[in-house]
Amino acid sequence: MSDRSPDLRFLLGKGGVGKSTFSALLALDKSKAGLNTLLVSMDPAHNQADIFQQPLSEKPTAPSPNLRILQVNLEKHIKNYLKESENNIKQRYNYLTAFNIQDHFKTLQYSPGIEEYAMLRAYGTLLKTYPGCDVIIFDMPPTAMALRFFSLPQISLSWIEELIKLREKILKKQQIVSNIRMGKKKIETDPVLTRLKEMQKEYDSISQRFESPSLGILLVTRPDDLSLAESQRIHKKMNELNLSIDQVILNGSMDEKWLVKVSHHIPANDHIGMPQSKDPLIGMNNLTGYLSANAQQFKKI
Ligand SMILES: Nc1ncnc2c1ncn2[C@@H]1O[C@H](COP(=O)(O)OP(=O)(O)O)[C@@H](O)[C@H]1O
Ligand SMILES: [Mg+2]
Repeated sequence: MSDRSPDLRFLLGKGGVGKSTFSALLALDKSKAGLNTLLVSMDPAHNQADIFQQPLSEKPTAPSPNLRILQVNLEKHIKNYLKESENNIKQRYNYLTAFNIQDHFKTLQYSPGIEEYAMLRAYGTLLKTYPGCDVIIFDMPPTAMALRFFSLPQISLSWIEELIKLREKILKKQQIVSNIRMGKKKIETDPVLTRLKEMQKEYDSISQRFESPSLGILLVTRPDDLSLAESQRIHKKMNELNLSIDQVILNGSMDEKWLVKVSHHIPANDHIGMPQSKDPLIGMNNLTGYLSANAQQFKKI
């Protein structure tokens, strides 16, 4: 068990390019190299159970030494979050019970953005639950949802900043003193400001972790123009979020011409070709077979 925080690897790309397959292969490879590895299925489609041919849940399964796999139950996280919020509101504003809060929360579970929010909460919980891993590999959902996941901390931070300003304005207007000084320390006494500042801290730390060097983003692409075009859009969007693509996996081709084309369009530290497998990449035997046949390529990741 290591005493530093785990390396994090996120696999991104268009639907069907091989994110789940390469998350599984990479997790197996790292675990075989002796690293304490956790593979996390973040995509609600949850393909890891099919790839490893065994049922998975949020409780980790250990299919081979040094490897644990779990699949995030987004629905459970959404329900827990809404329940917590409902209880919070009920406690704080008990005069609101005249309105039917429960009904309001029932519809909220379908509101846009709630899945990404649940993903971010699940991610935060995972980092706290498995601090002893050497590496955590995230099999991500297709592009749109994955990008919203990465942009959520920054979007939330700008919202919270505005809400803090608004709350401070309200308190000032009502001439309410919202903090007391204890020597050099300023203690927040307004519960709304206290919660907003707590949230600001949480999102700030997630945002900083996204930019830390222990976090790597792997973009999986295919040797075809549609995959490449979407990969370029992912690269551009990630750049706007101050995040860079660390490595590109060109899945299904070792062709030098395609590798040059991909590296020309998507800047990254490495561009690694991986061949198409004749056998389906399902089940421990086929996965380890593919790994040993391409050991040289996997050393680069
Ligand atoms: N290198 C490869 N050789 C053979 N089949 C592959 C390879 N990479 C992916 N596949 C197959 O392609 C399909 C899509 O891969 P998957 O990993 O599920 O993509 P994604 O997670 O990006 O949607 C699956 O049937 C998978 O087994
Ligand atoms: Mg997948």
